[in-house]
Amino acid sequence: MGRTIGAAFLAVLLALCGLPAATVTGQSPTPRLGKSSVKEVVAAMSDEEKASLLVGMGMNLDVPGLPAMSPEDRAIPERVPGAAGRTHAIPRLGIPSLTLADGPAGVRIDPRRKGDDARTYHATAFPVATLLASSWDTELLRRVGAAFGEETRDYGVDILLAPGMNIHRNPLGGRNFEYYSEDPLVTGRMAAAFVNGVQSAGVGTSIKHFAANSQEFNRMQSDSVVGERALREIYLKGFEIAVKGAQPWTVMSSYNLINGTYASQSRDLLTTVLREEWGFRGLVMTDWFAGNDVVEQMKAGNDVIMPGNPGQTRAIVDAVRAGTLSRQQLDENVERALDVILRSPAFKGHRHSNQPDLKAHALVAREAAAEGMVLLGNGGGTLPITPPRKIALFGNSSYELIAGGTGSGDVNEAYTVSLEQGLAEAGYSLDASLKETYTRYIAEQKAKRPAPLLPFFPVAPIPEMPVEAGHVGPKAGEADLALVTVGRSSGEFEDRKVEGDFTLSAAEQSLIQTVADAFHAQGKKVVVVLNVGGPIEVASWRDRADAILLAWQPGQEGGRSVADVLSGKVNPSGRLATTFPARFEDVPSAKTFPGREVPGREPLINFLLAGRPAEAVYEEGIFVGYRYYGTFGVKPAYPFGHGLSYTDFTYGGLKLSSKQFGGKLTAAVTVTNTGKVAGREVVQLYLGAPAGRLSKPAAELRAFAKTNLLRPGQSQTLTFDLGAADLASFDPAASSWVAEAGTYTVKVGASSADVRQTGTFDVKREITAGRANRALAPRSPIREMRPGS
Ligand code: BGC
Repeated sequence: MGRTIGAAFLAVLLALCGLPAATVTGQSPTPRLGKSSVKEVVAAMSDEEKASLLVGMGMNLDVPGLPAMSPEDRAIPERVPGAAGRTHAIPRLGIPSLTLADGPAGVRIDPRRKGDDARTYHATAFPVATLLASSWDTELLRRVGAAFGEETRDYGVDILLAPGMNIHRNPLGGRNFEYYSEDPLVTGRMAAAFVNGVQSAGVGTSIKHFAANSQEFNRMQSDSVVGERALREIYLKGFEIAVKGAQPWTVMSSYNLINGTYASQSRDLLTTVLREEWGFRGLVMTDWFAGNDVVEQMKAGNDVIMPGNPGQTRAIVDAVRAGTLSRQQLDENVERALDVILRSPAFKGHRHSNQPDLKAHALVAREAAAEGMVLLGNGGGTLPITPPRKIALFGNSSYELIAGGTGSGDVNEAYTVSLEQGLAEAGYSLDASLKETYTRYIAEQKAKRPAPLLPFFPVAPIPEMPVEAGHVGPKAGEADLALVTVGRSSGEFEDRKVEGDFTLSAAEQSLIQTVADAFHAQGKKVVVVLNVGGPIEVASWRDRADAILLAWQPGQEGGRSVADVLSGKVNPSGRLATTFPARFEDVPSAKTFPGREVPGREPLINFLLAGRPAEAVYEEGIFVGYRYYGTFGVKPAYPFGHGLSYTDFTYGGLKLSSKQFGGKLTAAVTVTNTGKVAGREVVQLYLGAPAGRLSKPAAELRAFAKTNLLRPGQSQTLTFDLGAADLASFDPAASSWVAEAGTYTVKVGASSADVRQTGTFDVKREITAGRANRALAPRSPIREMRPGS
């Protein structure tokens, strides 16, 4: 007894002097993260501790079939209520718990906390990713990212579960609004800039969903059957650019399988490609409840399992004991997790303020939204319309702006500025009786609307309010012009539909028709504002509108941003980063999206929401978006890269540094503002490569830049460097990137269909621009689309 008390006394004394007791008592000291090396900490961990570090704490959800959280974990208070996940702490080794929160449009946490009525925890709803990408402005993305990062940190979150970077394979993808573009270069550069911004605040990101996760249909059991070339050039490329350009702290593997193997269980994907080829140094986590074999996930290099459950912890320990999972593998997974934890605010003991600068971030959101809006059409210079003017405002979403989508891409913002409010603040006068009618209608419809199955499920849209010509006619007499909005929302768990979603509903068609007839009869203009998260059909009705502004889902400040653009305070400089097809049938994956259920295939997982086994065969191969439309001669409604301005730009003097490619080439072009107001132009460089062994798209975006704000008459020369990798295509036969010999055409322009300057250069002999491993190959050949077939 006396000895025990003595030792304890000694320990206290030594601790006060900052010395570990074990040094004196003869045992080796317990290592502590940050004080000892990561390897020493790992060596001191039991198998149970290792497994518990790698398996998250679970979610407090009661979904049938989903394993519950352990009672011990349930008892640990959440640092940030509403955050999507937490990892386990191991206090004896100085390892803290990390808090992870969505997502791509803002920090998604609960805005209110039990027992804390005195204050709120709202986060800024930034514009959705598709809008941000339409700015084509990497510096803006970095600034938006920095605001996200500060908010993440100030609310006590360690890792933001964003950005989403899947490719817009098909306009119906339910989560496309969370993603940037149909093009991997735009996707990768936007993501890299955003990640650099977020991480500059000392918190991490999780680029997601890695990879080829293009739809929501049976998303947890859907096999993306896709060729190696399409994978490398389209579906992996953006991730590669983001990893190399920003080293995100984490990558989130996706729900789907790729060529028969779950992404989260694919060593090809997570180790061979991501780490060995690209040099990724962070950790990989699963998407929530993804995959079906935790041991395979460990072996694949998927280090952290989210949200995690006690059964998974046990499975890891059992596998180590049984020798089916090596300790060496497990230690690698643990080391990578600890490396990330070491950088986290939680580890650094950061005391979060819970007081992010929401005012400053609202300004960033407002500016970003205006920068990413796209002026699709502007007949007869309809816009801008300077206040004060009287506007008759039609359409549900004029009064109830759709700030963003649903699910984990949603945000709990404090307010949303409607179009009506934004326009009124800008000095326009608005029809009060229309406001009253719409407000009443929306309230009635909302009351009738069935609640979603689960709180984070998509909500049914409010049907467009029917209008009668007899009511619209008098408005045309009173107002100077009409503004009609069309709204769309989508989100996790569901893809969009063609009828009444990609296409307009009958009520929407009739609204546009009725308003256009009435206002045009009086010689007045009609402006349509699209408050949507992705492309819709426009070809059948656009001639009835004098101007069309694509406002996307612009975040909480949306109404103000729209007013900024309509009034000319901001000259629109957004350009489409995703094509608006003329008809859904024109989409290259129209027939193969979202895939089909595979009857007879054994379910891989079993719980509510797990869906059924399915597959989507990516028959279009690399011909996604403009790569298809431009090559197969299919005219879209608005091409990739399209967007108008209130001024005009001319392009001149394209100079290539050489006619022969010698490993590097520079293209320089001068853009001049020839109009009457200041503006910015997005200069796009496409390359047409010679079709040799490999078929080639007519043109592929290989570089882009946005000019400064140019005054009327002002010019700017932009230069683009092209290396061998920028010329190359992926040759699956050789597992290499190759630039084939022949003549290359540089096409510089204002959109994929508006080329203003061209030049050519030659590649004398085929160049190998990079070697890769054979990885992720389809199990059987895919009949891919080819030009001319
Ligand atoms: C989504 C992820 C999200 C996670 C956590 C999943 O359902 O696919 O994007 O980060 O939930 O909320």
